[in-house]
Amino acid sequence: MEKTLIIIKPDGVCKRLIGKIIDRFESANFRVVGMKMIKLTKEIYNDFYSIHKGKFFFEPYREFMTSAPIVLCVLEGENIIQEVRKIIGNTDSKKAEKGTLRNLFGLNDRRNIIHASDSPDTAKFEINYFFKENDMLEYCSDDWMEKNNENSCFK
Ligand code: PPS
Repeated sequence: MEKTLIIIKPDGVCKRLIGKIIDRFESANFRVVGMKMIKLTKEIYNDFYSIHKGKFFFEPYREFMTSAPIVLCVLEGENIIQEVRKIIGNTDSKKAEKGTLRNLFGLNDRRNIIHASDSPDTAKFEINYFFKENDMLEYCSDDWMEKNNENSCFK
């Protein structure tokens, strides 16, 4: 099973889209295994996004990413890194494929609602940056439903 990190950005949180966004991933049969809400400080932004240091958008993006809380969420499932990238769409919301989260709710390449890891190495780095091993929970939803005589709402 593969894991990925998604970040619901300040625009996603303030436009009250947390539920709608998570719903897209759960409906695609992916499981939430870790979740927290934080407000990025300037210092954490500078460190976490140091890869973008020197780019023209580094400072304005910091202004945006520290402007309101964000939601960090670790998702698990098969081929999840690629599949989640398909669900969120192109970085630039104006170019995002129809029906993707950024197409539906984003504005441009900065205010684009959501981030998702783009490779296994990035996912590992990003998850470990924000989550300790104990912050994530192992469980099998299919086993739980079978044991409790429940059915998936999405079947
Ligand atoms: S790049 O240009 O190759 O570094 O782009 P990328 O790796 O896709 O990451 C871009 C992240 O920076 C955010 N951002 C912008 N990108 C492009 N142009 C502008 N003006 C801009 N402003 C912010 C973009 O939303 C990507 O954020 P993440 O957190 O990776 O989703």
